[in-house]
Amino acid sequence: MATVNTDKLSSARFAQATDAFVEIFTASVDFDQRMAMQDIEGSLAHAKMLCKIGILTETEREEIISGLGTIAKEIEQGEFNWSIQQEDVHMNIEARLTELIGIAGKKLHTGRSRNDQVATDIRLYLRQEIDNINSQLSRLQHAILDLAEKEADTIMPGFTHLQVAQPVTFGHHLMAWFEMLCRDKERLHDCCKRINIMPLGAAALAGTSYPIDRLMTAELLGFSRPSNNSLDSVSDRDFAIEFTAAGSLIMMHLSRFSEELVIWASAQFDFIDIPDAFCTGSSIMPQKKNPDVPELIRGKSGRVTGHLVSLLMLMKGQPLAYNKDNQEDKEPLFDTADTLINSLRAFADMVPHLTAKKDNMYKAAKQGFATATDLADYLVRKGMAFRDAHEVVGLAVRLGVDSKRDLSEISLEELQQFSTEITADVFDILKLEGSVAARKHIGGTAPDTVRKAIVAARIALNS
Ligand code: ARG
Repeated sequence: MATVNTDKLSSARFAQATDAFVEIFTASVDFDQRMAMQDIEGSLAHAKMLCKIGILTETEREEIISGLGTIAKEIEQGEFNWSIQQEDVHMNIEARLTELIGIAGKKLHTGRSRNDQVATDIRLYLRQEIDNINSQLSRLQHAILDLAEKEADTIMPGFTHLQVAQPVTFGHHLMAWFEMLCRDKERLHDCCKRINIMPLGAAALAGTSYPIDRLMTAELLGFSRPSNNSLDSVSDRDFAIEFTAAGSLIMMHLSRFSEELVIWASAQFDFIDIPDAFCTGSSIMPQKKNPDVPELIRGKSGRVTGHLVSLLMLMKGQPLAYNKDNQEDKEPLFDTADTLINSLRAFADMVPHLTAKKDNMYKAAKQGFATATDLADYLVRKGMAFRDAHEVVGLAVRLGVDSKRDLSEISLEELQQFSTEITADVFDILKLEGSVAARKHIGGTAPDTVRKAIVAARIALNS
């Protein structure tokens, strides 16, 4: 928590001191101090550029560089005295710089404003968080690939409407998760292109009368280019909304994985074991082992979508250019980044330790007439129209339901009463192994196809 201090940087115009509560109410330092290192990075680049265009002497530049270095150390060591009176991270650092080096510190703000400064800081900050999110996404993808490889032959029921539909391999199911994460990464990558554009130089809103070199600062800060329009640069937070939208989709995907794990770990399904280290017990029911990690992540997906809606509402209807409303962009953004990194990390840690209960999966796939479509396809291959085949299989399924047998357990003679096209070879396709092996086209569930998909995915992930 920042302390109250004297010597506000921008108060000469005011005859009256700021109301004590308003001071606290309007301050952002308690949360925006998180961007301190980005603020310092931006100031270093700005000072170097000011020196190059002759606004600062080399001595002043060196004083600023060394003062900012001292401040960075103070912050890292938790020794920096954050003050509410200095309102935000930018003014706190500038005030401390002036305290440390005197007049040169007061020159740093030449040709810039907090408006372009904050927009630059957020972009630098998000760029770094996206790198962190991406490495957790890659960890999770590697974990999924390893498990999919191990389970490429494992047969389980595939579901539609949460009813057994057709047999699939567990490896194939896992690779569906992998694909979702690939698109998530692409979205982050794409939004990074628009994040990585530099607002610095837009100053308050109209640019500055100093002959600033924006190409130089953009290069120093690793931005792809300076922004095109000063009014737009200081005001829009669409890049932050895009990031939160991409984050909401990642969390939506994690919530779906989570839901499946919760269902599969239940006694009713009993498809997987989630190791104890990722579960907790109940304080009252000694037998309980609750899948807390996936449940919590499922829950956390809601707050990230909430942040997306907050930011959209924050931006909606704002006239150009900067408005104080935008100070409200930070907390949702920081929490989105934290939630993503922590949830992905927990998932990536947990996935390698999931164990498939293969027998239970296999048994479940045998129930619910999962190979009914295979029988219809078999009849079509023998020349029957698909709709007629559908009818024949319906009759066979009804017999199975009435006599409590799977299609593969009904005798050939009994099947032949529905169609004489059915011969002894039908049992190859009625077996679960035959059903999955037949789906060997690109994107299919056949074990060999899944293994090929895993090889291709590994190459793409490592490139
Ligand atoms: N703390 C402010 C923010 O986060 C910095 C910019 C303030 N600019 C201003 N003119 N009040 O948006």
